[in-house]
Amino acid sequence: METPSPPLPLVCVTGGGGFIGSWLVRLLLSRGYAVHATVRDPGHPKNAFLMQLEGAPANLRLIKADMLDYDTVATAFAGCEGVFHVATPVPERIVDPQKEMIEPAVKGTMNVLKASLAMKVHKLILVSSVGACIFNPDWPQDMTKDESCWSNKEFCKENENWYSLAKTEAEEIALDFGEKNGLHVNTICPALVIGPMLQHVAINTTSKVLIYIIKGGPDMINNKFFPMVDVRDVAEALLLLYDKARPSERYLCSLDLVELNDLLGIMKPMFPTYSYADKIVDVDLNIAFTSDKLKNLGWKPRKLEETLMASVKSYEKAGLLHVSDGEPCRLPFLFRMPPA
Ligand SMILES: NC(=O)c1ccc[n+]([C@@H]2O[C@H](COP(=O)([O-])OP(=O)(O)OC[C@H]3O[C@@H](n4cnc5c(N)ncnc54)[C@H](OP(=O)(O)O)[C@@H]3O)[C@@H](O)[C@H]2O)c1
Repeated sequence: METPSPPLPLVCVTGGGGFIGSWLVRLLLSRGYAVHATVRDPGHPKNAFLMQLEGAPANLRLIKADMLDYDTVATAFAGCEGVFHVATPVPERIVDPQKEMIEPAVKGTMNVLKASLAMKVHKLILVSSVGACIFNPDWPQDMTKDESCWSNKEFCKENENWYSLAKTEAEEIALDFGEKNGLHVNTICPALVIGPMLQHVAINTTSKVLIYIIKGGPDMINNKFFPMVDVRDVAEALLLLYDKARPSERYLCSLDLVELNDLLGIMKPMFPTYSYADKIVDVDLNIAFTSDKLKNLGWKPRKLEETLMASVKSYEKAGLLHVSDGEPCRLPFLFRMPPA
């Protein structure tokens, strides 16, 4: 008689249908985990691709949960040894900061923390953002930023940088709660995440930024732009933290900064047929920071060229780079510069 195989380790990914969440779900399934992926609407066509991932029929369950509703979050975590909290909105434009950004990020994270404790989750890995690290006017101009640098919340408020304010607040709360309650919490702060998309029904905000850079349009864009990282490398980093990081540690996650003019210098010979963004504004901003801590843990990100190639192929396959006769391509509002 055959002995039944032991059950697979069970983990939960919040926001499993999103850009980063779906790559993480895919990676976890391929590495022998059973996964609960939370989505707000399991029946929505944009989430259908999840059950088509390899291993999904046997080892993936989609669970309806809203991060603002504690009971649904706790239900999703039942039986899970680990939680990856990915779900936070990345809105293209924020009209009501409290409702659209602060509440889902902060109250959502609080619900995740409390539910993790109640459901006896061993480890919680939270996706924060580089936005929670780099907006700090008190940091010496000539010093490279690292994980000891936190964004200044007053500075974020003054600049109406609601996304970074919300991510900073949520990350602070998570690390503090972990320390005080003996919950193993780690945070990761990715830069601008790009790369191929697993699903093409809903296009996430940061993929739209790269699509705008390729297609061009009427909006000004900052030459310092943002450091970038491949979505597949973010998923790898999340699992690396889960396996190896000591509690209460935060990790920056990015390739080195490439200015937009240099990025265009790489892309134009690779893909010569596109128009590309040309309204580029030079800003005096030092946002250099290092991801050495993550690399020292064993993280090996792909080269930028590989990411760009895979991104463009994915957009082409989804028909996202066609020139349309109607509205011009627009840069998501969150990333726009005011007109010069
Ligand atoms: N993309 C980047 O460049 C980047 C960089 C650094 C950090 N991050 C962080 O990475 C995470 C994922 O971002 P992404 O780029 O993958 O964005 P995305 O594709 O838009 O995914 C966001 C996910 O959050 C879910 N969500 C939002 N509000 C929710 C709520 N109240 N309850 C439950 N789920 C909710 C969305 O679910 P629905 O499908 O139901 O809307 C979606 O699955 C976010 O925490 C973001 O701050 C992103």
